[in-house]
Amino acid sequence: MVIQNIFVVGAGLMGSGIAQNAITSGYTVTLNDQRQEALDRAKAGIEKALARDVEKGRMTAEDRDAALARLSLDATLEGARKADLVIEAIIEELAAKQAVFTALEEVCPPDTIFASNTSSISLTALGSATKRPSQVVGMHFFSPVPRMKLCEVIFGLLTTQEVLAAVKEVATKMGKTIIQADDKPGFIVNRALLPMLNEACVVVGSYIGSVEEMDNGMKLGCNHPMGPLELADMIGLDILLNVMLVLAEEYGEKYRPSLTLRKMVTAGFLGRKSGAGFYIYENGKKMGVNPVLTHFQSLAR
Ligand SMILES: NC(=O)c1ccc[n+]([C@@H]2O[C@H](COP(=O)([O-])OP(=O)(O)OC[C@H]3O[C@@H](n4cnc5c(N)ncnc54)[C@H](O)[C@@H]3O)[C@@H](O)[C@H]2O)c1
Repeated sequence: MVIQNIFVVGAGLMGSGIAQNAITSGYTVTLNDQRQEALDRAKAGIEKALARDVEKGRMTAEDRDAALARLSLDATLEGARKADLVIEAIIEELAAKQAVFTALEEVCPPDTIFASNTSSISLTALGSATKRPSQVVGMHFFSPVPRMKLCEVIFGLLTTQEVLAAVKEVATKMGKTIIQADDKPGFIVNRALLPMLNEACVVVGSYIGSVEEMDNGMKLGCNHPMGPLELADMIGLDILLNVMLVLAEEYGEKYRPSLTLRKMVTAGFLGRKSGAGFYIYENGKKMGVNPVLTHFQSLAR
């Protein structure tokens, strides 16, 4: 099956990265979001990133213009009428994702493949909301999508080999190395990574070490390029919490989201995207540890 037109649902951190990566790999992309503001921000971000690529000599101005000409924005689902492949990247909630697939069922041609960028939700459960469960598959990209080399491809109980082959070809053309996972919450990477990030929240919340000590510990002691709390802020603390809830439901107590993580999300500290998480950000630049955390830690020391 030949894929040329991709419809990306959700123009946040992941959807905009997937769209950018796909247009620079030759695909025609319609980027959808229910909020016009998210679409405008995604387009401006993609233009800025490609301008930087041209500036640094990683791309010619002609290739940049050709890539941008392959991108359209759509606040409705109309653009999905011609889609060969849908890649859904909205919030990490089963009901919301199922609702998107159910709505797309009415718009897309019968052979359109429905992929989800979910971090933890069952592809079999997503497929059950459609009349095409054999064409539902996971394409789990990592952030920032244009730079991260991995795509985890996940098969639901009914996903066919043809569909797996088609999405692997797309991911390969987008420059990714593929690992293939069965449909079990967390798949391969997040099953191991997210409990580690959650445990870093426990360390800080239990006053064992400060935010910076936790991050320096893993950077300098384990050679991680980013500290776990910096990474948690980049992923989004709301996303991390929702994934941990899915893991906890399936695997039990060991995966219970830390109280600190839950409190941070409740207080509106969602990480980089909200301007504050474990750290404070101004214009995307890390300014220092969130004073809320230094305050409660100083009480404990
Ligand atoms: N953040 C990460 O590092 C990361 C990594 C891999 C996978 N994921 C997964 O990717 C998905 C998106 O994560 P994100 O970090 O980009 O989230 P985000 O919060 O940055 O963006 C989500 C976007 O979806 C839009 N949206 C919500 N409901 C919608 C709907 N019904 N129709 C259209 N648009 C809708 C929102 O307006 C928002 O712009 C999640 O499933 C997440 O688990 C995230």
